[in-house]
Amino acid sequence: MEKPENCIIVIFGASGDLTKRKLIPALYKLFEHDLLPERFAILGVARTELTDKKFRDAVFQFTGSGESNNELRERFKRHLNYIHLKDYSPAEFAGLNKKLKSLDAELETGGNCIYYLATPPGAFEDIVLSLGVEKMQFQGENNWKRLIIEKPFGNSLESAKELNRRLCRIFNENQIYRIDHYLGKETVQNIFVTRFSNGIFEPLWNRNYVHHVEITAAESEGIGSRGGYYDQSGALRDMVQNHLLQVLGLIAKEPPSSIRSEAVRDEKLKVFESLRIMKPEDVESHVIRGQYVANKIGREIVAGYREEMGVERESHTETYVAIKLFIDNWRWGGVPFYLRTGKRMPAAVTEAVIHFRPTPHSLFRGMDGSLNQLVIRIQPDEGMLLKISMKVPGRGYNVQEINMDFHYSELAGQYVPGAYERLLLDAIEGDTTLYARGDAVEACWNFIQPIVDAWQKYPGIKLFGYPAGTWGPENADDLIEESGLTWRYPCRNLSGEGSYCEL
Ligand code: BG6
Repeated sequence: MEKPENCIIVIFGASGDLTKRKLIPALYKLFEHDLLPERFAILGVARTELTDKKFRDAVFQFTGSGESNNELRERFKRHLNYIHLKDYSPAEFAGLNKKLKSLDAELETGGNCIYYLATPPGAFEDIVLSLGVEKMQFQGENNWKRLIIEKPFGNSLESAKELNRRLCRIFNENQIYRIDHYLGKETVQNIFVTRFSNGIFEPLWNRNYVHHVEITAAESEGIGSRGGYYDQSGALRDMVQNHLLQVLGLIAKEPPSSIRSEAVRDEKLKVFESLRIMKPEDVESHVIRGQYVANKIGREIVAGYREEMGVERESHTETYVAIKLFIDNWRWGGVPFYLRTGKRMPAAVTEAVIHFRPTPHSLFRGMDGSLNQLVIRIQPDEGMLLKISMKVPGRGYNVQEINMDFHYSELAGQYVPGAYERLLLDAIEGDTTLYARGDAVEACWNFIQPIVDAWQKYPGIKLFGYPAGTWGPENADDLIEESGLTWRYPCRNLSGEGSYCEL
């Protein structure tokens, strides 16, 4: 396979957690599979004082160990460099620019460069401005400069627009890669392929045959050491505004004219623009928010959200949200989409379920009200499950539901790149398809902002406490049950000694 063009990858925030846990391990994996350019360097930039050697040792903790790959690890390490900046001011960037130029000349990387902002969002503006002052964003005829930024892309519609304006003053939109790691997941990309490469699904994929759609991203962990960030964010901003809406975009979009990046991203934008904006008075009935409270499960006592480090004792931040929404367009008119996500749930499961309409009349015993389901298992146990009705062997015509189940793990021997590997490689190759575009991010915010505003304006909208280790507040069951439906994992299955409450 052809190797990508030579380049330097500059990582800002290089002493941070993201670099250690995600970026360096992903780059190392790409190196292991011989997918990185012939000549490349990784230049870590941060405010911590470190030598090249210390940086290499520090970031190399999560790349796996073992005698066999020691030689490879040593070779990879030689590509890692570090520069310490006092701050992200233009004065400091003169030194950075000089260092980059000398690396470029030494390695003959042709002036190609990726700037990866792995810093807290507060630093984005200074970094981009300073890159601009040093003219480090300019591309020549034969070289390129790209900017990768990590979420959050703003924490409101206004701030997202402002961020886009600021980025676009220095970089062109097609140089900006907004990373949403959900789009890097194999199973998320497979939604696109399943829809548009199978004659059997596409004719059914609309309001005539789809009854409703359910998207769940449940996490069993709490917020860990991220209380400071999370308490300002909450589940709606942290998971729905980006990851869940991106999955929804893939499920709901029209076929693009080709798989060209802009064609694919244009179609997703149209979905986001068709999301029905909620009126303030509808928020309480269409959005259920919750926060986990302490629970004793077996012998284990699990702390509540308000007891977590970095969280306000009276915090009203939601760790769970369930939404009923509609897409007002030709394909999806009237089909409810149910989205939910939460921390401290009984299991870590991310999946999308397409529930098809029932037959017009039930002929057989046992099939009353049963809907065929296509379950797209995003993680774990990646795969796809089709639930259909079959005859129970023996006398009469009794019907039971059976599973046609495919697991990705059955594709043994296939190298499946992790989300960050895939996305980094795409950025190196200049493919923006799996990155969020500025207008799409704003369109998502346009849907989210009225919910945030209503919560702020009407403090009477309830925040429900759900015991850690359960499927969220029981009121989320009501959200879906009013249409005579149930979640695939209903909430009213209490485990442990905790109880539901209002906060
Ligand atoms: C991140 C959120 O973007 O996604 C985290 O900030 C969340 O709060 C994580 O835990 C979930 O990602 P994944 O890949 O584990 O589903």
